[in-house]
Amino acid sequence: MQVFNDVKEMQNWCLNKKRQGQKIGLVPTMGYLHAGHLSLVKEAGRHCDIVVVSIFVNPTQFGPNEDFDSYPRDVESDRKKLAEEKVDAIFAPSARDMYREGYNSWVELKGEITSKLCGGSREGHFRGVTTVVSKLFNICQPDKAFFGQKDAQQAMIIEKMVQELNFPITIVRVPIVREADGLALSSRNVYLDEEQRRQALVLSRSLQKARQLAEDGERNVSRLKQEIRKMIEAATQANIDYVEIYDAEDLGDVEEIRGSVLIALAVKFGNTRLIDNLIVEV
Ligand code: PAF
Repeated sequence: MQVFNDVKEMQNWCLNKKRQGQKIGLVPTMGYLHAGHLSLVKEAGRHCDIVVVSIFVNPTQFGPNEDFDSYPRDVESDRKKLAEEKVDAIFAPSARDMYREGYNSWVELKGEITSKLCGGSREGHFRGVTTVVSKLFNICQPDKAFFGQKDAQQAMIIEKMVQELNFPITIVRVPIVREADGLALSSRNVYLDEEQRRQALVLSRSLQKARQLAEDGERNVSRLKQEIRKMIEAATQANIDYVEIYDAEDLGDVEEIRGSVLIALAVKFGNTRLIDNLIVEV
């Protein structure tokens, strides 16, 4: 497994592999890898000849009061996990190399898809994501790139960006990986104390409850959101950022549960903001 820190060296290596006819799979990450990331890596291995994993805590997707400085990092442990997965290359650039002095090129999708959900509470977040992902695509030249359904809105935005900007790349979405008790895996789970961790189980449980109600015939979106909120509010340390239900294709508004809808939520436990979601098809 090779480790590249230099942008140009990574790009040359990938271009060379492409010239040899190899299909490259890219798994973009911010590191502190868990089983959710590794499921993306395994999926990339099934689809492609070469797997590249990028590890870069991207400063441009964090707001001024967010957790960029404290975001968990453990490059050595990440390296070991990726070596076990037989990844071909890690790309771990410095922020200085990715954003040279005077950097001022941005990729930004406009409209509801970026202004709703996390876009509403994390100003500029998706502009940072689409910019860094475009740069990673140009550097790593993937045929396919792998994103987790846990960040459903992010995956949707990247799919739209790839389509609208004609990147010759297939986006593959990989299902959410959960702990045995239902908590969706996230690098931020490490911030939770024991009590917050226990209370955070309400996220997956409230989503399951909503699914059950929909399967039992509940079609009213407001009532379903109310049910989820009631369950979460019973957890004393939970602070709801949003509980929303939108069309699963384009985040369009829906008044009734019909077709495929995304139920998405973001909740803070202390300073730790967790997201989770579920797609319901009726
Ligand atoms: O999902 C993430 O970890 C990040 O948003 C990504 C896609 C690696 C871009 O920095």
